[in-house]
This record gives sequence, C-alpha cells and structure tokens, in this order.
Amino acid sequence: MNILVIGSGGREHTIVWKLAQSKSVKRIYCAPGNAGIAELAECLPVKTDDLEGLLEVARAKKIDCTLVGPELPLSLGIVDLFEQHHYPIFGPQRRAAELESSKVFAKQVMGECDVPTAHFQVCEDYFKALSYIKSQSFPLVIKADGLAAGKGVIIVENQKEAEDALSQIMKEKRFGEAGRSVVVEEFLSGEEVSLLAISDGQHIQSLISSQDHKKIGDGDRGLNTGGMGAYSPVPFFSEEQQGFVLNRVFRPIINYMEKEDRVFKGVLYAGLILTSEGPKVLEFNARFGDPETQAMLPALKTDLMEIAEATIGGHLNKIKLSWHEQSTVCVVLSSQGYPGTYRQGEVITGLDNLKDRDDVMVFHASTEKAEKNIISAGGRVLGVTAWSDSLQGAIDKAYQAAQTIKFANKYYRKDIGQKGLSFTGI
Ligand code: AMP
Ligand code: GLY
Repeated sequence: MNILVIGSGGREHTIVWKLAQSKSVKRIYCAPGNAGIAELAECLPVKTDDLEGLLEVARAKKIDCTLVGPELPLSLGIVDLFEQHHYPIFGPQRRAAELESSKVFAKQVMGECDVPTAHFQVCEDYFKALSYIKSQSFPLVIKADGLAAGKGVIIVENQKEAEDALSQIMKEKRFGEAGRSVVVEEFLSGEEVSLLAISDGQHIQSLISSQDHKKIGDGDRGLNTGGMGAYSPVPFFSEEQQGFVLNRVFRPIINYMEKEDRVFKGVLYAGLILTSEGPKVLEFNARFGDPETQAMLPALKTDLMEIAEATIGGHLNKIKLSWHEQSTVCVVLSSQGYPGTYRQGEVITGLDNLKDRDDVMVFHASTEKAEKNIISAGGRVLGVTAWSDSLQGAIDKAYQAAQTIKFANKYYRKDIGQKGLSFTGI
C-alpha cells in the first residue's frame, strides 16, 4: 500500500516509523515531514492546511490510505474532502473533530453524556462572562472556545486577572475568532494523565496511559509548551481508573456522537485530571498526542496499519491490541528560549551513534537537512525515546542518549518520568 502521513513533528515521525514496520506498507509519503521522517518516507512540500494540495498528492501518488497527525487539517475538514473523493483516511470528519476544535461543544457534549468534568459556564459575550465570574470564587479557568495552539487556557487568581484574560480573549481577539466565546470553569487539582482511545464510530479500544510534561521548567514551572516529554504507561493510573474512563467517558461520547450524526472515527484523546472525586476530563483532542505518541507507539505490538484499516472499515472489534511489557520515556530536546524566542539553524551532531540501538529512537520534531548536516528548525527539535523493563531504566537510557546529541543552545527538562517513580514509591 501507498501511505500518506500528514504533519511534520515528532508524533508524525513516530507514526511513519511504526508504519514502516508494517508488512502491508510499501511506500510512505509525508507532507510536509522533516529531516528524520525523510529517512523513512518521501517528504513533499505541501502544508497541512492546504487541503486541495494534499488531495492532489493522494491522486498523484495513488495513495491507498492517509493518516492525519495534527488538529488543523481535521478542523478544516480534510477527512470529509478525502472521503468525498473516495480516498480512505484515518481521522474524524470536521463535525466530529469539533470535540477538539470547540471547547464549548466539548463541554456541552460532556454535559449531555454526564461525563465527569469541571463545572462550567459558556459565555458568548464579555459582560456576561464578567458578571458570571463575579458570582464565583477563585481560582478559575478561562478557555477560548476555538483552536489556539495550546495557549487559549488561562488560570486566573482574582477579579483583575479575570478581567485582563477576558479582555485579551474577547475584546482584543488575541486568538482571533477562537475567542468569540469562552468557557469559564472551576479549577481542579490533581495529577494529569492522557488516555487515548481509537474508535471506528461504534467499537472502542483504549490505548495505554501516558503523561505529558507541559511546562518548560523542571518541577512543572514556567510557561506552557507543546510538551517537553512524556512517559508511558503511568504507574499510578490503575486498571480500575482506566475502566472507569472507558465506561464513563469514551463509551457515552462515542455513542452520543453517532446518535447526533457526527460519527467519531479515529483517535479520541482524553486529557484527564485525577481529582479526589475520581478522574475528570479537562479536554478532548481528536488525534494522537504529541509527545505522548512518541512514548506510546514504541510499546505497541499490533500492526498500526491494521488498526487504521480496521478503524476505517468499521471492524475495530476484530483487532486485539497488544503491548510490550515495557516502560517508555521520551525526552524533548528544545532550543534554549522556547516557548519564547530562540535561534534555529544549529547543526546537530551525535545522531548517527544512536542509529543502531534497538532500545532508543530519536524522533525528529523540527529539523531540516542543510547540505550534509541536519539542523534545528523550530522550538522543539528532537524527542529522544528509550524503553526498558522499568521506568527508571527507560529514564536512564533516554537521558544518557540525550547527552550524546549535541547542538548549540540545547535545552531539556531533567525530570521527565520522575512523577511516575515517586507516585509508586519505587
Ligand atoms: P486544556 O487545553 O483544556 O487541556 O487545558 C490546558 C491545560 O490547562 C491542562 O493540561 C491543565 O494543565 C490546565 N487546565 C485546564 N483546565 C483546567 C481546570 N479546570 N483546572 C485546572 N487546570 C486546568
Ligand atoms: N500533548 C498534548 C497534546 O497533544 O495536545
């Protein structure tokens, strides 16, 4: 089969790497890809929001199946377009992807399905939001409705901060149309866990748990980022909790979406917080997580292409997902200064020494080829993933490997996976 993967980050490198291990996959194309992906796939310079351009790739390269990495093309309706032209594609249609692209919609669906989540109020205008906030106690969480590249969530401690946040989102339109409505919700505290499930619209299979590290600094300090590392599975997330999320979150949501004529096919990602009252949903994404995917897929034994085909074909119940008994850790190497300003174009060395390892894989997040060199081309540059029998072993291997990769202004968190160790008391 000829496969097209859409996206250019570490998540897409991981998907391409996994698909390259499938017997049924003959050729992989990636749009637009990166220097790491280019070692496994033919990269094509088509942007992820250029839906017509991507359709043209599907035609020209006789693509049998397409897998979509990021949220933007899903929210623009790439699945609808490809399906209209009879190109099989893995991912939800636009109206189903609204579970991610509209926080207002996601909260309303959670309300309908009695999914455990923070108490909330939807506010369509600034004054309504302000008067609602006056009746609440702090801290509160204010969320822009639409996609805002992970920046549309603001935690406010007092009335003044709330007014500033609402003004930025709703008056100054810092996130454009994404801020036309907001969700104001109760602040929850607890550990965050990501649990993803795959659905063909009816059947559901949940994947293994993982935990992201969103803040730039050790100990979860500093600014939010796209994710500075992840590990999987999460030792303190029990099978019982996983079952609870399957029954109280994934099943009711998938059933509701089918009833509403918004059949959800693809990956449903639940961002969870483990509160004293049990797991609650903070957000949904309609796709694989980044960097969670880099920590999850190396443990997947089942052929990813078979899973994608069963999802598209509506027979996911025929597939049994199996996983290696291992812990996996992904440490993101970023450019110093990220998520603010940073330099790029730095030459990266040390990648070749890791190529023969069967317990370490370096997934490229934003790199380019410049003559004979591989150079950094963004804030998050590489994800060094390692696996081992124990979480401690995987942490040690990932950090040893991370030290051998060199580029100017390299930065990484030193505590990826530590919460997994401390919560089990290992
Ligand atoms: P979201 O995009 O909704 O997942 O929000 C991004 C991040 O903001 C989450 O990963 C949490 O760290 C934080 N967050 C969102 N909602 C809440 C909440 N209700 N209480 C506490 N923190 C939250
Ligand atoms: N790791 C968070 C996300 O993929 O949205």
